[in-house]
Amino acid sequence: MLFDLFLFSCSICSASRLYPINQLAALQLPEYPYTLPSPPEKPTPSFSIGPHKIMGQAILAPMAGVSDLPFRNLCRKYGAGLAVSEMVSSDASLRNTRKSKLRIRHEGERSPISIQIVGTDPKQLAEAARYNVDQGADIIDINMGCPAKKVCKKLAGSALMKDERLVEDILRTVVKAVSVPVTLKIRTGWSPEQRNAPQVARIAEDCGIQALAIHGRTRACRFNGEAEYVTIKHVTGVVNIPVIANGDISTPEKAKKVLDQSGAACIMLGRGARGRPWVFQEINRYLEKQEVTAPPAFSEQKQVILEHLQQIHHLYGDICGIKIARKHVSWYTGYQSDGKDFRHHFNRLNSIEEQISSVQQYYERLIQQETNTE
Ligand SMILES: Cc1cc2nc3c(=O)[nH]c(=O)nc-3n(C[C@H](O)[C@H](O)[C@H](O)COP(=O)(O)O)c2cc1C
Repeated sequence: MLFDLFLFSCSICSASRLYPINQLAALQLPEYPYTLPSPPEKPTPSFSIGPHKIMGQAILAPMAGVSDLPFRNLCRKYGAGLAVSEMVSSDASLRNTRKSKLRIRHEGERSPISIQIVGTDPKQLAEAARYNVDQGADIIDINMGCPAKKVCKKLAGSALMKDERLVEDILRTVVKAVSVPVTLKIRTGWSPEQRNAPQVARIAEDCGIQALAIHGRTRACRFNGEAEYVTIKHVTGVVNIPVIANGDISTPEKAKKVLDQSGAACIMLGRGARGRPWVFQEINRYLEKQEVTAPPAFSEQKQVILEHLQQIHHLYGDICGIKIARKHVSWYTGYQSDGKDFRHHFNRLNSIEEQISSVQQYYERLIQQETNTE
């Protein structure tokens, strides 16, 4: 439902105009490209997807409306080994929509660039894979995990798990169509009675899929209940390709627990990374050095958020950018005790200048409080 609402809200933003660069410069934002105050140390490679070595054991999940270019870049800077793009439809007639065009922007993105495609028809998906390789994809990811009604009613996303023959047809056709590695994202099955992830995983390996991400819920579970990792463990026991465990992971401790329980090569974070791109640094340090890391100082958070806002406004323009900025600022400040009052105020601001200056003031206050308590 929330996901559908987001798709709707983005489509009404399509008339947005780009904010002039010279006016952005006048706002005295941090320079771009911006260097993090304490650059995260490089994690060691954990596994490979084709020729691409994936650093560390935590990657960013594809999230429509969230894992756009600015957020992917931010998570990669903080040590995400990979950041999968928001899904793009395989339907070529939708390619020229503003939304689709924004989803395939990859300027300044670190390799490997993974683009996720969604659809039902093997030939259409193969053509979409080729198109996205031409747009810069180093990896093509196929979505068989999305439960959204809009996607499932066309037998795409997680609905495909019901039809293993079609799964095989799609995977063989797409893998054959491109020279880059193809990965797959699934759920544990269609329903708790039909947890066929191990069968789908075998098909995937047989078709040449090079890594498999599994969200530990069935399609019927949507986002209800808790993710389970027992089915993921079954999968790691039956295939030799890297398996990526996903679902309800948001702390370094949980990341370690899931890796240990499931035998997965890596974990994938979605909602747990919203408003906390630095969580990847925390997970990498915990897994590599057993170190518990505090969130960055407010001075660092302030710079990160301002850079993030700058990129959002620049990518989406003012009308849509202002709305998208509200979501991210809401996630960032959701961790502060007085965040609710600030959000109430922030969500009523209708200009880029006001958004920037109110974030600056809010974080200045937090920095001041932090200094006073030291
Ligand atoms: C807002 C939102 C958008 C999502 N969009 C996609 C998508 O485009 N493709 C996909 O495969 N999964 C999508 N997902 C599912 C996530 O990739 C992930 O599997 C799910 O959120 C569970 O992981 P988490 O508990 O770490 O969030 C989306 C999830 C959310 C919350």
